[in-house]
Amino acid sequence: MRALSVLTLAVVAAARALAVHPNRMHHGHPLLERQAASAAPTDIALATPSASSVIVGASAIIATSSRAPAPSVLPKPPSSSPPAAPNPVPTPLDTSISSSLSGECMSYLTNLLSNSTFLSCLPFSLLLQTSNSFRSQLNAAVGSGNFSYINDLIAYASSPAPDAETCDRVFAGYAEAVKERAHCGNDLNNGIPVARQARRGLGNYAAVRTAVGLVNPDSGSYCYLEAVATERPDDAYLWQLPMGNILPAASTPTCSKCSALVMNHWATWSANTTTLNGTMINSAASTINAKCGATFVSVAAQAENASATQPRFAVLPALAVLAPLFTWVLS
Ligand SMILES: *[C@@H]1O[C@H](CO)[C@@H](O)[C@H](O)[C@H]1NC(C)=O
Ligand SMILES: *[C@@H]1O[C@H](CO)[C@@H](O)[C@H](O)[C@H]1NC(C)=O
Ligand SMILES: *[C@@H]1O[C@H](CO)[C@@H](O)[C@H](O)[C@H]1NC(C)=O
Ligand SMILES: *[C@@H]1O[C@H](CO)[C@@H](O)[C@H](O)[C@H]1NC(C)=O
Ligand SMILES: *[C@@H]1O[C@H](CO)[C@@H](O)[C@H](O)[C@H]1NC(C)=O
Repeated sequence: MRALSVLTLAVVAAARALAVHPNRMHHGHPLLERQAASAAPTDIALATPSASSVIVGASAIIATSSRAPAPSVLPKPPSSSPPAAPNPVPTPLDTSISSSLSGECMSYLTNLLSNSTFLSCLPFSLLLQTSNSFRSQLNAAVGSGNFSYINDLIAYASSPAPDAETCDRVFAGYAEAVKERAHCGNDLNNGIPVARQARRGLGNYAAVRTAVGLVNPDSGSYCYLEAVATERPDDAYLWQLPMGNILPAASTPTCSKCSALVMNHWATWSANTTTLNGTMINSAASTINAKCGATFVSVAAQAENASATQPRFAVLPALAVLAPLFTWVLS
C-alpha cells in the first residue's frame, strides 16, 4: 500500500466521484483530460519554468506566448448563486505528485474524495494548490481570454451546496480529522508534501471560500478573476499566502481595491485560521504598503501580536522565492 502513488489515489477517487456523480461521465475523466492537456503546447512550460513563464493563481505556470491579451471586460458574478458547479467540475487532489502516502492517509483521502458533501462543497482552497483539472481550465481561460467558466466556478465555490455554513463546519471537522494518527498524522509528521497540502487546503476552506467571493467594487468582477486575468503575476501571489507561500519581497501588487480587500481578508481570518500566520501577513502587508501607502492594508492588530517575530524582508534570489510554487510540478 505504501508504494501506491497519489496518482493511484486520484484514479480511485475519480472513479468513486464518477460513481457518485454519474452525470460527469459525459464530460470526461478528469485524469484523461489532464493527460490530454499535458500534450498541449501550453503545458511544455510547466516542466521547465523559465524567465519566459509567468505564474497565474496557485499553480498555473503559463508561457507568455500562450496568453491572450487581458480582456478589457471580465464577466460579472451571476445575479444568484448557481445550483451546481459548471462542468467539467475540477477535482481536488488529482495531481500526480510521486511522494508516497501511508495506507492510512491514502485511505482517508480517498474516502474524502468520494464523499458527496466534500465534493459538493467544492474546496477552492484545494483547487488552488492540488488540482491539475483546475489548472487546465485556468490555462485554457488565460489562453483564450474567455473567463466565463472560471467566473461560474467561483460563483458556485463561494456559495456551494448544501450551504456555506454546513460546508465550513464540515471542513473544519476534516481539518481536525486529517491530523489523527489513524488518518494522515504520520504522513504530516514526516512532512509528506501531499499530506501537508491536503491539511492546508482543508484548514483554509472557509478563509478561501469567502475570499474567492470578494468583488472589486470599481469593476464589479471577482477579485480572483482580475488577479489571474492580469498580465502581471503579482496580484496572483496574494492568493498564495494561505497556501504558505510568502509574498516575494520584490513583487509589486497593484494598489487596487482588490489588493486591499484580499489582504485585509487574510489578516482578519488569520486570527482563526491556523494555516495563515501574522508573520507572513505582516511581511506581505509591508511590501504592499511600501508601494501603496502606509494605511493601504491595515493589519495593526495582527502586527502587535506578531511583533515577537520580525517580518521577513529577506531579499532572496527570485527563483528561490518561487521554488515552492514549482516543486509540485517538478516532483
Ligand atoms: C461525508 O462527510 C460528512 C462530514 O464528515 C459525514 O457526515 C458524512 O457521513 C460523510 N458521508 C459519507 C457517505 O461518508
Ligand atoms: C466562453 O466559454 C463558455 C464556456 O465556458 C462558452 O459557453 C462561451 O460561448 C464562450 N464565449 C465565447 C465568446 O467564446
Ligand atoms: C508563517 O508561515 C510561513 C509560511 O508557511 C512559515 O515559513 C513561517 O515559519 C510561519 N511563521 C510562524 C511564526 O508560524
Ligand atoms: C473566523 O474569522 C472570520 C473573520 O473574522 C469570521 O467571519 C468567521 O466567522 C470566523 N470563523 C469561526 C469559525 O470563528
Ligand atoms: C492579539 O493579542 C491580544 C492579547 O493577547 C488579543 O486580545 C487579541 O485578540 C489578539 N489579536 C489578534 C488579531 O489575534
